[in-house]
Amino acid sequence: MSFAIRSKPNTHRAVKKNVNAPLANRSETKVAVIGGSGYVGEELVRLLLQHPYADLAAVTSRQFAGKTLADIFPRLSHHQKAGDIRFGASNPAQLAQMAQVIFLALPHGFAAEFTKPLVQTGARIVDLSADFRIKDPKIYKEFYGNDHSAPDLLGEAVYGLPEIYRAEISHANLVACPGCYPTSILLPLLPLIREKVVSLASILVTSLSGVTGAGRKVETDYLFAECNESIRPYGVPKHRHLSEIEEQLSAFAGKKVTIQFTPHLVPVNRGIITTIYVDPSKEIDAGSIATIYQKAYGDEPFVRLLGAERFPDTKNVSGTNFIDIAWRLDLRTGRAILMSAIDNIVKGASGQAIQCFNLMRGYPETTGLQIP
Ligand SMILES: NC(=O)c1ccc[n+]([C@@H]2O[C@H](COP(=O)([O-])OP(=O)(O)OC[C@H]3O[C@@H](n4cnc5c(N)ncnc54)[C@H](OP(=O)(O)O)[C@@H]3O)[C@@H](O)[C@H]2O)c1
Repeated sequence: MSFAIRSKPNTHRAVKKNVNAPLANRSETKVAVIGGSGYVGEELVRLLLQHPYADLAAVTSRQFAGKTLADIFPRLSHHQKAGDIRFGASNPAQLAQMAQVIFLALPHGFAAEFTKPLVQTGARIVDLSADFRIKDPKIYKEFYGNDHSAPDLLGEAVYGLPEIYRAEISHANLVACPGCYPTSILLPLLPLIREKVVSLASILVTSLSGVTGAGRKVETDYLFAECNESIRPYGVPKHRHLSEIEEQLSAFAGKKVTIQFTPHLVPVNRGIITTIYVDPSKEIDAGSIATIYQKAYGDEPFVRLLGAERFPDTKNVSGTNFIDIAWRLDLRTGRAILMSAIDNIVKGASGQAIQCFNLMRGYPETTGLQIP
């Protein structure tokens, strides 16, 4: 099996975050959301309506065409624009006329189809699907089952994890936002891999996700009576997100990394809890893990380091763009245990997309993401 090792990624140290940048851009940007009726699209619409520099110009949906945002999302009806904007058709040429930055909240496969004509118009794209996250089209086919329809654009896409690829995102025309599980797994793991304190063959991951992670589709497995009061693993042993997780880990390690990953569906609407078990490759203690995380994320506005005493909890990140990270060293087994919590729809999708948008447009990175 072939895989591509990317050039060594820049770290956040290479370009400081621009949270309080005095010369930040303050001009408005016209934006559109394609796939605005799904869970990710709805959250994007919510965040963009309250973003001081985003001018929401168009939102698309086939099933709700002609209805206003307020008709379909009554919780947003206090925004004047929600009463004015109607869901429209997903016509790339028209949308490119209306918006400078276009968010794609579509299922994988469809997103690439829309991206091809949009890129040609000069629009900048923030794609939330898996279509541009993986560099190698063979890996994409292996995990997603179909040939990639725009392989020539894969090299152009930047992986939209701002804490890791801040500089690249700010110049990108095509940003591929990471998946929700990958965000919860990569942010705790990458600093330790960069510092070479992890035995690469030892990585085991288990995650628990709320039901919105499956999208707003009608499928028996996700009906209330099938999920409520019940917890189950799925996607074992080869969940699709392994493709991007392993590609990113391999890029950081400089060699192929393969991990074990077991996701579970839990009966909550939102949230992901991830637990990662690793064998240290050298002697470390909880203090040295703290030092590594402090160096990597000490200045990050959306990473909260909980240390070796507190535990992450989805209720503390729900509706926010934070990732909470905690760790322990197990003196009995010798393993390090890394734990994280995110909201799958916000830091795992729409909030992270807005973070990327802010970087692409030169706005302070926390704009519209409600950091007091
Ligand atoms: N849910 C999460 O936690 C999460 C996290 C990270 C990333 N993502 C990714 O984000 C994307 C959206 O996820 P989601 O959970 O919001 O999915 P979803 O709830 O199923 O929504 C999908 C959206 O795409 C539209 N759509 C579907 N097929 C289309 C087509 N052929 N042409 C045009 N529009 C189409 C749907 O609108 P109409 O049917 O009304 O047209 C709907 O607005 C997916 O790629 C998903 O993998 C999801």
